[in-house]
Amino acid sequence: MLTEPTTRVLVSAERIGTRIRELGAAIDRDYPDGVLLVAILKGACFFLVDLARAISRPVRIDFIGISSYGKGKTSSGEVKLTKDLDIAIDGADVLIVEDIVDTGITLNYLLGILEQRQPRSLRIAALLDKPQRRVRPVDVAYVGFQIPDEFVVGYGLDYAEQYRNLADICVLEDARP
Ligand code: IMP
Ligand code: MG
Repeated sequence: MLTEPTTRVLVSAERIGTRIRELGAAIDRDYPDGVLLVAILKGACFFLVDLARAISRPVRIDFIGISSYGKGKTSSGEVKLTKDLDIAIDGADVLIVEDIVDTGITLNYLLGILEQRQPRSLRIAALLDKPQRRVRPVDVAYVGFQIPDEFVVGYGLDYAEQYRNLADICVLEDARP
């Protein structure tokens, strides 16, 4: 029988908002000439929109699509590009905006692709970081919150495409497959 998973708030919408304002202030200091924000579809869109509005320097935005095969809770380790950037990034200060760094496989792969295009700088802002799960090293310049090894949904994060619209970041209370 199917039972509906229950959710428990881990990071409230209010804490998310406060932290994003802090990150925006730090980005303002570090990028006086502005920055190109590149969000990884789809989860990071919510973070991108709020982060962009917390930055007062000139901001451009773009999107990149990456799929790490599988629609369950663990990625297979295989990654492919499903949508490329519209903007050329050579000579640009690029900040990749990601919802969560888990194993690090996705960002490791993306950094490799984008570095070849010779941006002036290339760094990462991740709303959430699960350091215990890392299998590939990734240097994350801006982290919203470090969280324990639990599967979370909400504020853009999904489980099988559901729950993205929750305002809070919540733990999905059933076991990882
Ligand atoms: P990584 O390649 O293992 O670092 O995985 C990063 C991607 O996996 C994120 O962009 C998310 O799409 C997804 N992911 C990892 N952990 C979670 C989670 O707790 N909830 C929802 N999605 C997650
Ligand atoms: Mg993602």
